[in-house]
Amino acid sequence: MRNPIAAIAAACLLLVAIGLARVRAQPPHGKQVYVSLARKPLWSMNAAEVAAFYAERGADAKKNPVARGQYLVDTVGCVLCHSSYDDQKRMIPGKRLAGGLRIRIEPYGDFPAGNLTPDKDTGLGNWSDAEITRAITQGILKDGTRLLPFPMDWASFSTMTPGDLDAIVAYLRSIPPIANRVPRPTWAPFPLYL
Ligand code: HEC
Repeated sequence: MRNPIAAIAAACLLLVAIGLARVRAQPPHGKQVYVSLARKPLWSMNAAEVAAFYAERGADAKKNPVARGQYLVDTVGCVLCHSSYDDQKRMIPGKRLAGGLRIRIEPYGDFPAGNLTPDKDTGLGNWSDAEITRAITQGILKDGTRLLPFPMDWASFSTMTPGDLDAIVAYLRSIPPIANRVPRPTWAPFPLYL
């Protein structure tokens, strides 16, 4: 080492920097807010503040259901399953929410996720709002077919609030129709308890 003093100084600076980073990474106390500058974090709210926070978000959903619906479809995972991908696993532009991802669940078979765009022949264009909501929350298709509780996670979605379900339907109605016929799943009549 040509200059030991410089090396020691650099090491000290590094230690101070690590120390500062650790202090910043600690959970916020009191009124300090690191995560959101716009509002108090949820974990330092009392029960009334939490209730008011969610009531405000519910009101936002009513004011702009399409935006709320897009947020839910993007974050809950609908868009990940209900789109088409190329062989590099990249979403095909123009096939967002048009279905096509084939999910294989051994030993049951292949479950291609359907087209959620408003296309009348291949998507949800001819489904009523209630039929779409029933598929999402109860796993029952327009023609009465019952879905297994996987991969379409209707059992989890059954607890969604009516406002959020309406918002999802409003958003799915707002996107452009894309013609993409997705085959029905092929699954062996394997006993479900196995
Ligand atoms: C893990 C993958 C996955 C996720 C996440 C998912 N789905 Fe599905 N969904 C499927 C599959 C696969 C089917 C077809 C299942 C079958 O026919 O057995 C399906 C079926 C449906 C259907 C019935 C019409 C059709 O495509 O056959 C609707 C409507 C639907 N999903 C909406 C949604 C919505 C809305 C969300 C998000 C809240 C969502 N799905 C999330 C995989 C998924």
